[in-house]
Amino acid sequence: MTDAAPPAYQGPQRVFSGMQPTNGLHLGNYLGALQKFVRLQDQYDCIYCIVDLHAITVGPDPKELTNRCREVAAAYIAAGVDPKKSIVFIQSAVREHTELTWVFNCVARMGWLERMTQFKDKAGKHAERSSVGLFDYPVLQAADILLYKATHVPVGEDQKQHLELSRDIAQKFNNDYGRADFFPLPEPLIQGPGARIMSLRDGSKKMSKSDPSDMTRINMTDDEATILSKIKKATTDPLPVPEAEEGLKGRAEVENLVGIFAAVTERSVADVLAEYGGKGFGVFKPALAEALAAKLSPIAGEMRRLTGDPGALDAILKDGAERARAIAGPIMAEVRDVVGFWRA
Ligand code: TYM
Repeated sequence: MTDAAPPAYQGPQRVFSGMQPTNGLHLGNYLGALQKFVRLQDQYDCIYCIVDLHAITVGPDPKELTNRCREVAAAYIAAGVDPKKSIVFIQSAVREHTELTWVFNCVARMGWLERMTQFKDKAGKHAERSSVGLFDYPVLQAADILLYKATHVPVGEDQKQHLELSRDIAQKFNNDYGRADFFPLPEPLIQGPGARIMSLRDGSKKMSKSDPSDMTRINMTDDEATILSKIKKATTDPLPVPEAEEGLKGRAEVENLVGIFAAVTERSVADVLAEYGGKGFGVFKPALAEALAAKLSPIAGEMRRLTGDPGALDAILKDGAERARAIAGPIMAEVRDVVGFWRA
């Protein structure tokens, strides 16, 4: 891939991110992304998308898709995204996402996509039988971001490679069309202890909605008793919580639990270790479960309230789609001019 030069882009700073409407959200989605979405609203104009075009790469049930989109919208809002301030919308409602994807398909190189580890993981041994959409997924992601000329993208660490690809596509488009400052090279915002939340049962696997065992993850809608039981059963080792960060090396599951504690209470790992270092997991785990429930239970309650009124959610999503179109339309029109498409 190309080495990105410092961005010449002088346009406004803007945040864009998205989540797939598949199978309910979990703690990794919350700590890796959603918690950051909320904080960034004070600093930037933010656009938060529900990526249903991405979701159909794995063929979800059409009868479920709209409700799943509403659930993600409810999670955004319940967690603290203010839909009056930030734009909350469903990707397929803004058709320019697919139009820009086509242009980017002609910019991105096969070799770049062939290196994407997420495709390799999802396609497994049967790449030739997976959909072209699954292969092209990261190009659509680049179009999502650049359709709004977004400069910052809050995501978990698993999206790092896709973000690098977005930068490469932006850079190549700018080079190919001789417009050095047309697209910004979007910066991933990945830092912090929540960037890579691992399975509660295996510290080498990320927490994921696709893991067959529900005991590996905390869902955003889990109640207090379920959270406590999952945390109590989370894998640890016989040693106590270490007193310093070096003591977390080689203890992936413990490192994960301490990282979750730090992220959910918005403290540093060092600070958590200063309080719990030397104590056993019999003390640490209930405290962690309590902190998780204190954060997630009010959000889950608010999600239930919001999803109970789909009409109100749809009004928010309609307003979001209109505001998103108002930004995307003119940028897509500019792209069409740059590329040389006929203008009526
Ligand atoms: P998705 O729906 O898989 O995940 C949504 C967000 O949650 C983060 N995440 C995690 N963070 C920490 N630890 C984990 N275990 C964990 N699991 C998931 C993801 O990094 C992500 O930020 N391709 C994206 C959706 C997307 C997008 C975009 C994101 C489409 N277009 C444009 C940013 C900008 C995805 O599959 O997210």
